[in-house]
Amino acid sequence: MQRKAVSLRKLYEAEIDKNAQLISTNDHEIRDELTTARGDELETATETINDFNEFVAPSRLKGLEHFVDETDHVKHYDTGAQMPFNKKIFEPLKFPRHLSIYILDKNNFSSFPQPKKDALKLFSYYLMDISSILPPLLLNAKPIDIVLDLCSAPGGKAMNIIQSMSYKSIVCNDFSRSDRLKHVFGTYFTDLHKLNVNITAHNAEEWVEPNAYTKVLVDVPCTNDRESTVREENNMFSHAKLRERILLPERQINMLCSGLKAVQVGGAVVYSTCSLSPVQNDGVVHMALSKIANETSMEFVINDLSAWIEPWKCLFSFHDNMRHGQLILPYLPLNCGPTYFCRLERRK
Ligand SMILES: C[S@@+](CC[C@H](N)C(=O)[O-])C[C@H]1O[C@@H](n2cnc3c(N)ncnc32)[C@H](O)[C@@H]1O
Repeated sequence: MQRKAVSLRKLYEAEIDKNAQLISTNDHEIRDELTTARGDELETATETINDFNEFVAPSRLKGLEHFVDETDHVKHYDTGAQMPFNKKIFEPLKFPRHLSIYILDKNNFSSFPQPKKDALKLFSYYLMDISSILPPLLLNAKPIDIVLDLCSAPGGKAMNIIQSMSYKSIVCNDFSRSDRLKHVFGTYFTDLHKLNVNITAHNAEEWVEPNAYTKVLVDVPCTNDRESTVREENNMFSHAKLRERILLPERQINMLCSGLKAVQVGGAVVYSTCSLSPVQNDGVVHMALSKIANETSMEFVINDLSAWIEPWKCLFSFHDNMRHGQLILPYLPLNCGPTYFCRLERRK
Protein backbone atom coordinates (compact mmCIF):
# COMPACT_ATOMS: atom_id res chain seq x y z
CA MET A 1 0.00 0.00 0.00
CA GLN A 2 1.26 3.47 -0.85
CA ARG A 3 2.09 5.66 2.13
CA LYS A 4 0.09 8.89 2.46
CA ALA A 5 0.62 11.21 5.41
CA VAL A 6 -2.29 13.46 6.34
CA SER A 7 -1.99 16.75 8.24
CA LEU A 8 -3.73 16.39 11.58
CA ARG A 9 -4.33 20.14 11.74
CA LYS A 10 -6.29 20.02 8.42
CA LEU A 11 -8.37 17.06 9.60
CA TYR A 12 -9.11 18.73 12.94
CA GLU A 13 -9.96 22.13 11.45
CA ALA A 14 -12.22 20.53 8.80
CA GLU A 15 -14.03 18.68 11.57
CA ILE A 16 -14.48 21.87 13.62
CA ASP A 17 -15.88 23.61 10.49
CA LYS A 18 -18.22 20.73 9.80
CA ASN A 19 -19.57 20.83 13.34
CA ALA A 20 -19.94 24.63 13.21
CA GLN A 21 -21.85 24.25 9.92
CA LEU A 22 -24.15 21.71 11.50
CA ILE A 23 -24.79 23.88 14.51
CA SER A 24 -25.15 27.22 12.73
CA THR A 25 -27.40 26.31 9.81
CA ASN A 26 -31.07 27.02 10.42
CA ASP A 27 -32.14 25.38 7.21
CA HIS A 28 -33.42 21.98 8.30
CA GLU A 29 -33.03 20.48 4.83
CA ILE A 30 -29.35 21.47 4.64
CA ARG A 31 -28.78 20.29 8.15
CA ASP A 32 -30.43 16.92 7.39
CA GLU A 33 -28.40 16.61 4.20
CA LEU A 34 -25.15 17.32 6.06
CA THR A 35 -26.05 14.90 8.82
CA THR A 36 -26.90 12.15 6.32
CA ALA A 37 -23.70 12.81 4.35
CA ARG A 38 -21.72 12.59 7.55
CA GLY A 39 -23.52 9.41 8.54
CA ASP A 40 -22.77 7.87 5.12
CA GLU A 41 -19.10 8.82 5.47
CA LEU A 42 -18.92 7.21 8.85
CA GLU A 43 -20.75 4.12 7.61
CA THR A 44 -18.33 3.68 4.70
CA ALA A 45 -15.39 4.16 7.03
CA THR A 46 -16.81 1.66 9.47
CA GLU A 47 -17.51 -0.89 6.74
CA THR A 48 -13.86 -0.87 5.72
CA ILE A 49 -12.78 -1.79 9.21
CA ASN A 50 -12.23 -5.42 9.80
CA ASP A 51 -14.38 -6.52 12.76
CA PHE A 52 -11.35 -8.08 14.38
CA ASN A 53 -9.70 -4.66 14.61
CA GLU A 54 -12.40 -3.25 16.85
CA PHE A 55 -11.95 -3.14 20.59
CA VAL A 56 -14.93 -4.54 22.45
CA ALA A 57 -15.21 -3.35 26.01
CA PRO A 58 -15.59 -6.18 28.51
CA SER A 59 -19.05 -6.43 30.05
CA ARG A 60 -17.91 -8.50 33.03
CA LEU A 61 -14.61 -8.97 34.83
CA LYS A 62 -13.96 -12.63 35.51
CA GLY A 63 -12.00 -13.46 38.64
CA LEU A 64 -12.48 -10.02 40.22
CA GLU A 65 -13.34 -11.72 43.54
CA HIS A 66 -9.82 -13.21 43.71
CA PHE A 67 -8.27 -9.90 42.75
CA VAL A 68 -10.09 -8.17 45.60
CA ASP A 69 -8.85 -10.89 47.94
CA GLU A 70 -5.34 -10.38 46.71
CA THR A 71 -5.35 -6.63 47.15
CA ASP A 72 -7.67 -4.01 48.48
CA HIS A 73 -6.52 -1.47 45.92
CA VAL A 74 -9.61 -2.04 43.82
CA LYS A 75 -11.47 0.03 46.43
CA HIS A 76 -9.89 3.03 44.70
CA TYR A 77 -12.56 2.59 42.10
CA ASP A 78 -15.57 2.46 44.32
CA THR A 79 -18.48 3.30 42.05
CA GLY A 80 -20.78 3.55 45.08
CA ALA A 81 -18.83 6.41 46.64
CA GLN A 82 -20.53 9.60 45.49
CA MET A 83 -18.36 12.69 45.78
CA PRO A 84 -19.63 16.18 45.17
CA PHE A 85 -17.18 16.90 42.33
CA ASN A 86 -18.10 19.96 40.33
CA LYS A 87 -17.90 19.82 36.55
CA LYS A 88 -17.27 22.58 34.04
CA ILE A 89 -17.71 22.25 30.28
CA PHE A 90 -14.49 22.52 28.29
CA GLU A 91 -14.96 23.61 24.68
CA PRO A 92 -12.88 22.56 21.63
CA LEU A 93 -9.72 24.64 21.17
CA LYS A 94 -7.80 26.04 18.24
CA PHE A 95 -5.05 23.77 16.97
CA PRO A 96 -1.66 25.25 18.09
CA ARG A 97 -0.25 27.43 15.31
CA HIS A 98 3.31 26.10 15.44
CA LEU A 99 2.59 22.41 15.89
CA SER A 100 2.72 20.16 12.82
CA ILE A 101 1.59 16.56 13.15
CA TYR A 102 1.14 14.04 10.35
CA ILE A 103 -0.58 10.67 10.44
CA LEU A 104 -0.89 7.80 8.01
CA ASP A 105 -4.37 7.17 6.65
CA LYS A 106 -6.46 4.47 8.33
CA ASN A 107 -5.65 0.85 7.54
CA ASN A 108 -2.22 1.78 6.21
CA PHE A 109 0.16 -0.44 8.11
CA SER A 110 3.35 0.48 6.28
CA SER A 111 6.02 1.71 8.65
CA PHE A 112 6.89 5.35 8.81
CA PRO A 113 10.57 5.82 7.90
CA GLN A 114 12.89 6.64 10.79
CA PRO A 115 13.56 10.41 10.91
CA LYS A 116 16.74 11.66 9.28
CA LYS A 117 19.14 14.24 10.73
CA ASP A 118 19.24 17.68 9.14
CA ALA A 119 22.15 20.11 8.64
CA LEU A 120 22.13 20.92 12.39
CA LYS A 121 22.32 17.17 13.14
CA LEU A 122 18.80 17.26 14.58
CA PHE A 123 16.03 14.79 13.77
CA SER A 124 13.25 16.14 11.59
CA TYR A 125 10.30 14.49 13.35
CA TYR A 126 9.35 12.36 16.36
CA LEU A 127 7.30 9.18 15.99
CA MET A 128 4.58 8.61 18.57
CA ASP A 129 1.18 7.02 19.15
CA ILE A 130 -1.26 9.51 17.63
CA SER A 131 -3.64 9.27 20.60
CA SER A 132 -0.80 10.44 22.91
CA ILE A 133 -0.98 13.96 21.50
CA LEU A 134 -4.35 14.60 23.14
CA PRO A 135 -3.11 15.03 26.76
CA PRO A 136 -0.61 17.81 25.85
CA LEU A 137 -3.20 19.48 23.58
CA LEU A 138 -5.75 19.30 26.39
CA LEU A 139 -3.32 20.98 28.77
CA ASN A 140 -3.80 24.07 26.57
CA ALA A 141 -0.53 25.75 27.53
CA LYS A 142 -0.23 29.42 26.61
CA PRO A 143 2.87 31.61 26.21
CA ILE A 144 2.39 32.86 29.80
CA ASP A 145 2.33 29.38 31.32
CA ILE A 146 4.86 27.92 33.73
CA VAL A 147 4.59 24.23 32.89
CA LEU A 148 5.55 21.10 34.83
CA ASP A 149 5.69 17.70 33.14
CA LEU A 150 6.02 15.42 36.18
CA CYS A 151 6.77 12.10 34.40
CA SER A 152 8.34 13.24 31.19
CA ALA A 153 10.60 10.55 29.63
CA PRO A 154 11.06 9.67 26.84
CA GLY A 155 9.61 13.10 26.15
CA GLY A 156 7.01 12.85 23.35
CA LYS A 157 4.31 14.89 25.10
CA ALA A 158 6.79 17.51 26.36
CA MET A 159 8.07 17.80 22.82
CA ASN A 160 4.53 18.58 21.60
CA ILE A 161 4.36 21.44 24.12
CA ILE A 162 7.84 22.73 23.25
CA GLN A 163 7.11 22.58 19.51
CA SER A 164 3.88 24.49 20.06
CA MET A 165 6.03 27.29 21.53
CA SER A 166 3.18 28.03 23.93
CA TYR A 167 4.80 28.19 27.37
CA LYS A 168 7.00 30.57 29.31
CA SER A 169 9.11 27.86 30.90
CA ILE A 170 8.82 24.10 31.27
CA VAL A 171 10.26 21.67 33.82
CA CYS A 172 10.54 18.14 32.42
CA ASN A 173 10.96 15.72 35.31
CA ASP A 174 11.59 11.97 35.34
CA PHE A 175 12.82 10.00 38.33
CA SER A 176 14.49 7.08 36.61
CA ARG A 177 14.85 8.13 32.98
CA SER A 178 16.04 11.74 33.02
CA ASP A 179 19.18 10.68 31.09
CA ARG A 180 16.97 9.27 28.35
CA LEU A 181 15.07 12.56 28.33
CA LYS A 182 18.33 14.53 27.96
CA HIS A 183 19.45 12.24 25.15
CA VAL A 184 16.14 12.48 23.24
CA PHE A 185 15.91 16.29 23.62
CA GLY A 186 19.56 16.57 22.56
CA THR A 187 18.67 15.01 19.22
CA TYR A 188 15.80 17.45 18.57
CA PHE A 189 16.82 20.78 20.11
CA THR A 190 20.11 22.68 20.05
CA ASP A 191 19.82 24.78 23.20
CA LEU A 192 17.38 23.73 25.92
CA HIS A 193 18.41 26.67 28.08
CA LYS A 194 17.31 29.16 25.41
CA LEU A 195 14.03 27.28 25.09
CA ASN A 196 13.49 27.60 28.87
CA VAL A 197 13.43 23.82 29.25
CA ASN A 198 14.76 22.46 32.53
CA ILE A 199 15.28 18.71 33.06
CA THR A 200 15.03 17.34 36.62
CA ALA A 201 15.07 13.87 38.22
CA HIS A 202 12.91 13.98 41.36
CA ASN A 203 10.44 11.47 42.74
CA ALA A 204 7.04 12.71 41.55
CA GLU A 205 5.39 11.04 44.55
CA GLU A 206 7.26 13.37 46.88
CA TRP A 207 7.25 16.54 44.81
CA VAL A 208 7.20 19.59 47.08
CA GLU A 209 6.73 22.82 45.18
CA PRO A 210 3.28 24.11 46.14
CA ASN A 211 1.51 26.65 43.92
CA ALA A 212 4.50 26.98 41.60
CA TYR A 213 3.05 26.13 38.16
CA THR A 214 0.14 27.21 36.01
CA LYS A 215 -0.14 23.99 33.97
CA VAL A 216 0.87 20.48 35.10
CA LEU A 217 0.95 17.26 33.09
CA VAL A 218 0.86 14.04 35.14
CA ASP A 219 1.42 11.25 32.59
CA VAL A 220 1.95 8.44 35.08
CA PRO A 221 3.68 5.07 34.80
CA CYS A 222 0.89 2.54 34.22
CA THR A 223 0.27 -0.99 32.95
CA ASN A 224 0.90 0.30 29.41
CA ASP A 225 -1.74 -2.07 28.08
CA ARG A 226 -0.98 -2.17 24.35
CA GLU A 227 2.81 -2.41 24.66
CA SER A 228 2.35 -5.08 27.33
CA THR A 229 0.69 -7.40 24.82
CA VAL A 230 3.84 -7.54 22.70
CA ARG A 231 6.78 -6.69 24.94
CA GLU A 232 8.47 -8.89 27.51
CA GLU A 233 10.83 -6.28 28.93
CA ASN A 234 9.41 -4.44 31.96
CA ASN A 235 6.03 -5.99 31.33
CA MET A 236 3.77 -5.01 34.23
CA PHE A 237 1.71 -8.17 33.74
CA SER A 238 4.67 -10.50 34.31
CA HIS A 239 4.62 -12.53 37.50
CA ALA A 240 7.78 -10.80 38.71
CA LYS A 241 5.99 -7.43 38.57
CA LEU A 242 2.88 -8.52 40.49
CA ARG A 243 3.63 -6.44 43.57
CA GLU A 244 4.64 -3.41 41.51
CA ARG A 245 1.43 -3.69 39.51
CA ILE A 246 -0.75 -3.92 42.61
CA LEU A 247 0.91 -0.84 44.07
CA LEU A 248 0.52 1.19 40.87
CA PRO A 249 -2.79 2.95 41.70
CA GLU A 250 -1.41 4.02 45.09
CA ARG A 251 1.65 5.53 43.43
CA GLN A 252 -0.44 7.14 40.68
CA ILE A 253 -2.65 8.79 43.34
CA ASN A 254 0.47 10.17 45.06
CA MET A 255 1.79 11.55 41.76
CA LEU A 256 -1.53 13.14 40.84
CA CYS A 257 -1.76 14.69 44.34
CA SER A 258 1.75 16.14 43.84
CA GLY A 259 0.57 17.67 40.55
CA LEU A 260 -2.59 19.06 42.16
CA LYS A 261 -0.56 20.67 44.96
CA ALA A 262 1.96 22.11 42.51
CA VAL A 263 -0.61 24.01 40.45
CA GLN A 264 -1.66 27.58 41.20
CA VAL A 265 -5.24 28.76 41.65
CA GLY A 266 -6.64 29.28 38.12
CA GLY A 267 -4.22 26.71 36.69
CA ALA A 268 -4.93 23.23 35.32
CA VAL A 269 -3.67 19.66 35.68
CA VAL A 270 -4.00 16.95 33.05
CA TYR A 271 -3.76 13.37 34.31
CA SER A 272 -3.15 10.66 31.70
CA THR A 273 -2.35 6.96 31.26
CA CYS A 274 -2.10 4.48 28.42
CA SER A 275 -4.17 1.94 30.30
CA LEU A 276 -7.74 0.66 29.99
CA SER A 277 -7.94 0.00 33.73
CA PRO A 278 -10.86 1.82 35.41
CA VAL A 279 -8.84 1.76 38.64
CA GLN A 280 -5.81 3.51 37.12
CA ASN A 281 -7.99 6.02 35.24
CA ASP A 282 -11.19 7.44 36.76
CA GLY A 283 -10.45 5.53 39.98
CA VAL A 284 -7.17 7.36 40.59
CA VAL A 285 -8.72 10.75 39.76
CA HIS A 286 -11.57 10.00 42.16
CA MET A 287 -9.28 8.97 45.01
CA ALA A 288 -6.78 11.81 44.49
CA LEU A 289 -9.58 14.42 44.52
CA SER A 290 -11.09 12.86 47.64
CA LYS A 291 -7.69 12.90 49.34
CA ILE A 292 -7.05 16.54 48.40
CA ALA A 293 -10.54 17.52 49.59
CA ASN A 294 -10.02 15.73 52.92
CA GLU A 295 -6.48 16.90 53.61
CA THR A 296 -6.29 20.42 52.18
CA SER A 297 -8.46 23.47 51.57
CA MET A 298 -7.78 23.33 47.83
CA GLU A 299 -10.74 23.07 45.43
CA PHE A 300 -10.82 21.64 41.91
CA VAL A 301 -13.40 21.30 39.15
CA ILE A 302 -13.34 18.45 36.66
CA ASN A 303 -13.59 19.56 33.05
CA ASP A 304 -16.47 17.92 31.23
CA LEU A 305 -14.71 16.94 27.99
CA SER A 306 -17.71 15.74 26.00
CA ALA A 307 -17.65 18.83 23.73
CA TRP A 308 -13.85 18.95 23.57
CA ILE A 309 -13.56 15.41 22.15
CA GLU A 310 -16.26 15.97 19.51
CA PRO A 311 -13.88 16.98 16.63
CA TRP A 312 -11.58 14.08 17.54
CA LYS A 313 -14.30 11.54 16.92
CA CYS A 314 -13.42 11.60 13.21
CA LEU A 315 -10.25 9.73 14.20
CA PHE A 316 -10.71 8.03 17.54
CA SER A 317 -13.23 5.80 19.25
CA PHE A 318 -14.01 6.91 22.78
CA HIS A 319 -15.39 4.84 25.64
CA ASP A 320 -18.94 6.09 26.13
CA ASN A 321 -19.34 5.62 29.85
CA MET A 322 -16.55 7.33 31.77
CA ARG A 323 -17.17 9.15 35.03
CA HIS A 324 -14.47 11.84 35.08
CA GLY A 325 -12.13 11.73 32.07
CA GLN A 326 -12.21 10.33 28.54
CA LEU A 327 -10.68 7.10 27.21
CA ILE A 328 -9.53 6.55 23.63
CA LEU A 329 -10.01 2.87 22.88
CA PRO A 330 -7.29 0.86 21.15
CA TYR A 331 -7.82 0.98 17.40
CA LEU A 332 -5.73 -1.13 15.03
CA PRO A 333 -6.45 0.73 11.74
CA LEU A 334 -4.70 3.76 13.27
CA ASN A 335 -2.34 1.67 15.39
CA CYS A 336 -3.17 3.75 18.44
CA GLY A 337 -4.57 3.77 21.98
CA PRO A 338 -5.49 3.28 24.68
CA THR A 339 -5.07 6.78 26.08
CA TYR A 340 -6.98 8.08 29.08
CA PHE A 341 -7.01 11.75 30.09
CA CYS A 342 -8.78 13.97 32.60
CA ARG A 343 -8.45 17.75 33.10
CA LEU A 344 -8.77 19.38 36.51
CA GLU A 345 -8.87 23.13 37.14
CA ARG A 346 -7.90 24.62 40.47
CA ARG A 347 -10.48 27.02 41.86
CA LYS A 348 -9.21 27.68 45.36
C1 LIG B 1 4.16 6.87 30.79
S1 LIG B 1 5.82 7.27 31.02
C2 LIG B 1 5.84 8.97 30.54
C3 LIG B 1 5.82 9.19 29.06
C4 LIG B 1 6.12 10.61 28.69
N1 LIG B 1 5.20 11.55 29.30
C5 LIG B 1 6.11 10.82 27.19
O1 LIG B 1 5.17 11.41 26.65
O2 LIG B 1 7.07 10.41 26.55
C6 LIG B 1 5.99 7.37 32.73
C7 LIG B 1 7.34 7.84 33.18
O3 LIG B 1 7.28 8.02 34.59
C8 LIG B 1 8.58 7.80 35.10
N2 LIG B 1 8.44 7.56 36.56
C9 LIG B 1 8.13 6.41 37.19
N3 LIG B 1 8.07 6.63 38.51
C10 LIG B 1 8.33 7.94 38.72
C11 LIG B 1 8.40 8.76 39.88
N4 LIG B 1 8.18 8.27 41.11
N5 LIG B 1 8.71 10.05 39.72
C12 LIG B 1 8.92 10.57 38.49
N6 LIG B 1 8.86 9.86 37.36
C13 LIG B 1 8.57 8.54 37.47
C14 LIG B 1 9.09 6.63 34.31
O4 LIG B 1 10.51 6.64 34.31
C15 LIG B 1 8.50 6.88 32.93
O5 LIG B 1 9.44 7.48 32.09
